Amino acid sequence: MKPFSMMLSVLAIGITSSAAMADGASLPKVSPANSDLVNQGAYIARAADCMSCHGEDYTGSNTPIATPMGEIYSPNITPSKRYGIGNYTEKDFKNALQKGRAPNRMLYPAMPYPSYNGMADEDISALFAYMQTVPAVNEASENKTDLPFPFNIRSLMLGWNAINIPSTAKRTGLNETQQRGEYLVNNLEHCGTCHTPRNSTMGFDKSMYLSGAPLGSWHAPNITPDKDSGIGSWSEQDIVTYLRTGELDQRAYAGGPMGEVVAHSTRYLKDEDLGAIASYLKAVPAIQTDDKITQIDTARLPRPINASITHDLIAQKDYLARAKTSASNDSNSPKALYLAACGSCHGVSGYAQPDAGYAPIVGLSSIRRDKPNALVNVIAHGIDSATNTRPKMPGFSEDLDSEQIAGIANYVRVNFGGIENSDVSAADVDRIMTTKPDQPFLIKNAGLLAWLGVIAVVLLLGLLVWWLIRRMGRAH
Ligand code: HEC
Ligand code: HEC
Ligand code: HEC
Repeated sequence: MKPFSMMLSVLAIGITSSAAMADGASLPKVSPANSDLVNQGAYIARAADCMSCHGEDYTGSNTPIATPMGEIYSPNITPSKRYGIGNYTEKDFKNALQKGRAPNRMLYPAMPYPSYNGMADEDISALFAYMQTVPAVNEASENKTDLPFPFNIRSLMLGWNAINIPSTAKRTGLNETQQRGEYLVNNLEHCGTCHTPRNSTMGFDKSMYLSGAPLGSWHAPNITPDKDSGIGSWSEQDIVTYLRTGELDQRAYAGGPMGEVVAHSTRYLKDEDLGAIASYLKAVPAIQTDDKITQIDTARLPRPINASITHDLIAQKDYLARAKTSASNDSNSPKALYLAACGSCHGVSGYAQPDAGYAPIVGLSSIRRDKPNALVNVIAHGIDSATNTRPKMPGFSEDLDSEQIAGIANYVRVNFGGIENSDVSAADVDRIMTTKPDQPFLIKNAGLLAWLGVIAVVLLLGLLVWWLIRRMGRAH
């Protein structure tokens, strides 16, 4: 994506939407009288997070969505007639969003239509009006989705849809704010696509709603109000702050995929909508999972070094150099390894350089979990930051061995997470780095099952022909 046009569209959509969009001359198919509708549509695009996948300029993404079936690319959805959705009617648009049915093909559920299925008609109309105002980009996407048999038979999705849609049910007993929150969480923001585990057909496991799920080398944590493994200890304001800024001081940091959600979507939401999400998340059933979080003990956390060092890059460099010298007796000690590999970005005491966009890692829930998976994966694979303006974190799987990664993980968990002891071993690191999330049986064996189906049909046909011939023979 081009950073400049991205910046422009961020500006246009996020900040000055009314002024920029109300200019009737720039709205091709929308009459100026409808500009309120267009503004509402621009807001829905944010709240439904279309840009995380289709890009800030809607030209699609060259980064595929990794699914157990293969890699799926998000296409150009600008109003280009040739390369985008310029020929769509509003009805086509509604079918694509709610049913995964594009005019010429069934869509894969990597496009979250199972969630958009519950989108209100007036929101879809507004979104459609707004999409007409997006600059058409006449460019084919570089990459095409090409899934292996039998997933390349797109009409199979009809069967999948029949089982898995609607993907969520409306809860009873919610107040009006929480109902709005439910709509945002389930139908616009589709939080469950990452936070709800999947069943054997890759649909939502509804009994484990929002209780956390693996996501490539990430893990989307439990966000039910369970006190031990979820976010039961967060206040509603904490949730709002996290979704607005991507950070909750000494508690959580939105890196990776969640960083994208915040950067492209939640930070643009109105206060009352973030409040509604928070209120709803407090009202869903608490589910306890086995990945418990050690409660934070602030007395055990490091103190920030004084402000004059924290905000002065040169002073911080000197401070790090001194810390390195005093730790260097054993260059393979966890502390020396941490300072050498991580210290330049996250600081001697984990508070990082707040002015430079590096994550302060003190107290994060991801380093206080029973399972060190999230932390080990971050150290091994690094983080592709969500926006070009944020620095990236490199991965260390090439430069450090499993023993060293384990040592750093333990150092970080005890010294910055405040947990009493941590015994991540090299074997744990190897296991975490080599295990891939389990593929559901049906997906893993779909090719075989499909061929067996074909063979069964051929056999049946053969049998039928044989029987017909025999019958005709007898009739003579
Ligand atoms: C999680 C990623 C994701 C999000 C979020 C998402 N999409 Fe998609 N979208 C996709 C993918 C992937 C495809 C192509 C699926 C396929 O190949 O079957 C797609 C396809 C489409 C299509 C069909 C395009 C065509 O070529 O006919 C439309 C229209 C569309 N998306 C609109 C939207 C809108 C509007 C939003 C926001 C409300 C949105 N998408 C949000 C991933 C996403
Ligand atoms: C694209 C996948 C994805 C989507 C969509 C998504 N999340 Fe997340 N979420 C994650 C990941 C991954 C993390 C872990 C982030 C980290 O540790 O840096 C996370 C972390 C969180 C946390 C912090 C929990 C903790 O214990 O630290 C909260 C709260 C949260 N998400 C809420 C939401 C809400 C609310 C939505 C919908 C508005 C949402 N998420 C949508 C992937 C996602
Ligand atoms: C070049 C700078 C750099 C180095 C070196 C670095 N990091 Fe990071 N780290 C970052 C940035 C930037 C982020 C936030 C990324 C984002 O915003 O998407 C981050 C995020 C994190 C997070 C938060 C993950 C989450 O979202 O829950 C942890 C934990 C972390 N780093 C640990 C480490 C450890 C341990 C090391 C040393 C092995 C290390 N980092 C080395 C830049 C760095």
